[in-house]
Amino acid sequence: MKNANWPPLVRVQHWLTVLLMILCIGAVWSHEAFDKSNPMRAQLMQLHFLSGGVIGLLTLLRVVTRAVVTGPVHSTTPLVTLLAKAGHLGLYLLMILLPLCGYVAVSGKGLPINLLGWLEIPPLPVSSGVAKVFKELHEGLGNALIALVALHVAAALFHALLLKDKVLQSMLGRAAE
Ligand code: HEM
Ligand code: HEM
Repeated sequence: MKNANWPPLVRVQHWLTVLLMILCIGAVWSHEAFDKSNPMRAQLMQLHFLSGGVIGLLTLLRVVTRAVVTGPVHSTTPLVTLLAKAGHLGLYLLMILLPLCGYVAVSGKGLPINLLGWLEIPPLPVSSGVAKVFKELHEGLGNALIALVALHVAAALFHALLLKDKVLQSMLGRAAE
């Protein structure tokens, strides 16, 4: 009999990404609350770089995982399945592109990128003009990701609360076999 739940490895990767995303976006949004003389501002940005970088690496691992494991098949229309697949693909693409654009954006200063004193990453050899373009691209894609995540969460809640089907349960590991 086919499994009604997503495999445990996919579920762990999914919910770990959600936690890291809360950290990543929470850090970049809250750094604005501190003025430039406060070291907390730089530390929150370093937390943003670190959690964002880990999201990128975890996403690459998820792509490999998803190439070898299959998810549950939900009884829904082909159009809904297509929309869900397109949404998931968009999320994957953005989670890979965002850390790359962010890396180019912070390389413009020509200084090593400090990750909370745990790790230092050398900057890429890019001009400040190129870095500025990538900073804007990063901000635009970051906002697109937030919008797509909001749609994704709304869809999950729509399934759980209105359609009352097993879609959300399958990612929580609670769908009946
Ligand atoms: C999946 C991972 C990431 C996500 C979802 C993400 C998301 C965001 C968001 C939403 C913003 C705020 C955009 C705005 O102000 O409108 C932002 C800003 C920024 N991010 Fe990221 N980011 C990620 C990874 C990274 C990485 C790895 C780096 C660098 C190594 C980075 C560097 C920056 C920089 C420099 C800013 C501009 C902050 C400012 O000056 O206000 N990001 N990011
Ligand atoms: C940072 C936020 C999130 C991201 C980036 C994200 C990403 C993804 C991706 C890529 C998938 C496809 C399955 C996979 O390859 O792992 C997925 C599936 C799913 N996500 Fe999320 N997710 C996020 C947050 C959430 C939240 C908060 C919920 C619940 C309220 C949720 C519920 C689900 C469900 C139910 C599925 C399974 C859909 C299906 O079986 O077709 N996700 N998510």
